[in-house]
Amino acid sequence: MTNLAAPRKIIIDTDPGQDDAVAILLALASPENIDLLGITTVGGNVPLALTQKNARIVCELAGRPDVLVFAGCDRPMVRPVLVTAEHVHGKTGLDGPTLPDPVMPLQDQHAVDFIIDTLRREPSGTVTLCPIGPLTNIATAFERAPDIIARVQEIVLMGGAYFEVGNITPAAEFNIYVDPEAADIVFKSGAPLVVMPLDVTHKALTTKPRIDAFRALGTRVGTAVAEWTDFFERFDMEKYGSEGAPLHDPCTIAYLIDPHLFSGRHINVEIEVTSELTRGMTVADWWRVTHRKPNALFIGDIHAEGFYRLLADRLARL
Ligand code: BDR
Ligand code: CA
Repeated sequence: MTNLAAPRKIIIDTDPGQDDAVAILLALASPENIDLLGITTVGGNVPLALTQKNARIVCELAGRPDVLVFAGCDRPMVRPVLVTAEHVHGKTGLDGPTLPDPVMPLQDQHAVDFIIDTLRREPSGTVTLCPIGPLTNIATAFERAPDIIARVQEIVLMGGAYFEVGNITPAAEFNIYVDPEAADIVFKSGAPLVVMPLDVTHKALTTKPRIDAFRALGTRVGTAVAEWTDFFERFDMEKYGSEGAPLHDPCTIAYLIDPHLFSGRHINVEIEVTSELTRGMTVADWWRVTHRKPNALFIGDIHAEGFYRLLADRLARL
């Protein structure tokens, strides 16, 4: 794959999470495509104290203690309680291999302020946001500084579902469910959106040969990724009876590197915020049965072999 364009400047907004960790590693391994301006962390899979620490563990694993890591919001915008997912990711959020505590610093600035300052500082239309956790930091930044919305190049996020419906409730995907009010703000913002829902990530399963390919890299990174995926796939295999687990979050970074691996539809997507039964549902007009204005490229398919090949090739560089 040749890349004639300049690397895209991105901020990864994340709640690591093993699959978040792989997304961060893929970005760090791809400097010709991606210029990672910073990592902003949010409460999600586990509380913020752990997600900011996990992000730094991952940067150090990649040999990149220079990456700027920020702590952001520790709870949703409106809902009183943070829903977490230790049942999937383990107590630390990064269960699997034992990795050293990080020594690289956490930045003093709040993640939301970093997002606002960066979008105001960089030329308009040159910064892409990659949220792979609940959308609290992004929506808070948009509420506080609405002028930045028009400056966003694109938001490429992991969240939601249409055909696969829900993974944390029968109707909702985790990232959207944790902070539906934040998701609602982002989906209504008018910023160009690319959405990686469960519909696509459930087609990107970690089969044994794919995990073996990571292990066969024979590096610290390869071994850690194999052990992370070994750990967190047990949950989905039991739940879905599938042959592996979805590697959700790296789909966003893979899209930025090679969008041809993916296909979807430009459609209207809205967030359910009022119903107790279906809160956090992404109501996606896949069949275009309304006249509601399209606001998102909603991805439906992935070339899974190509995605895993890209991952193994790139992770081999670290
Ligand atoms: C999403 O929820 C988290 O558990 C994963 O890291 C991913 O971002 C999948 O629903
Ligand atoms: Ca995540």
